[in-house]
Amino acid sequence: MDPASVIAPAVPAPPPSGTGGDDPLAILAHELRQPLYTIAMATENARLLMEQGAPDRERVRDALERIAEQVDRTQALITATLTSANPRQHAVVSTDLVEAARNAVTLAKLLPIAAHVDIAWQLPEESMCVGLTMLQLEQVFINILRNGMESIADRRKQGWQERGLIRITIQPSARDVRCTVIDNGVGISSADTKDLFEPYFTTKGANGNGLGLHICRLILGKADGGIRLSPGEVEGARVELWMPRVPHEAAS
Ligand SMILES: Nc1ncnc2c1ncn2[C@@H]1O[C@H](COP(=O)(O)OP(=O)(O)OP(=O)(O)O)[C@@H](O)[C@H]1O
Ligand SMILES: [Mg+2]
Repeated sequence: MDPASVIAPAVPAPPPSGTGGDDPLAILAHELRQPLYTIAMATENARLLMEQGAPDRERVRDALERIAEQVDRTQALITATLTSANPRQHAVVSTDLVEAARNAVTLAKLLPIAAHVDIAWQLPEESMCVGLTMLQLEQVFINILRNGMESIADRRKQGWQERGLIRITIQPSARDVRCTVIDNGVGISSADTKDLFEPYFTTKGANGNGLGLHICRLILGKADGGIRLSPGEVEGARVELWMPRVPHEAAS
């Protein structure tokens, strides 16, 4: 008998772990792009300011602060990836969704694609805690906001000349928090909506990885929440998120 057939496994080997869109390295790489992009922009900005005869020190300091913040964010993403790989380091968390939405809007507005987009929000006065970290909630909102902005940019490329608008609404109920993000971009057809959450599904060619919505769904699933994408009532797209509320006392 051929010795190779003796040691051949009787059942097909399972796929290597971390493939099929749940690869922590692919997710980390995807999420690092936002802070790295902002660092690159702020560095270029600081360089141009320094080339001026009398550099505006205030603006140089702003650019350097932005770089330092985004370096911290990069480190936080790496730490979170390492922590999630360690089963002994899973702490109970409670984070204010309203504060996360505000932070994500600040970060998303730094992206060049935000130039033609207004962001309007209707947020409750009180805090709404959910069982995810601030970093995870910001990741969810940034991916959704970036999709809305990219969709608005696509519509403008087709000749539409109005300003883009993204509306964020957070509605609490006794047990859950629901959040809606509506944009006036190119929109989606209702037939496509299921595929959009599949890892690596993108309609953006080389400009998209097809991981943003998949990452949102993975993160929200950790807190027993969910996400849905549907065509907007008149135009654009509508994203709905929901998560159970958790007590504020557990805040970390
Ligand atoms: N607001 C939106 N309006 C229209 N289409 C959307 C919107 N959000 C998502 N989509 C569609 O869903 C697809 C998947 O989105 P997803 O964020 O997962 O990946 P992506 O944006 O293509 O790439 P990336 O990994 O860089 O985020 C997009 O390619 C796009 O076709
Ligand atoms: Mg995306």
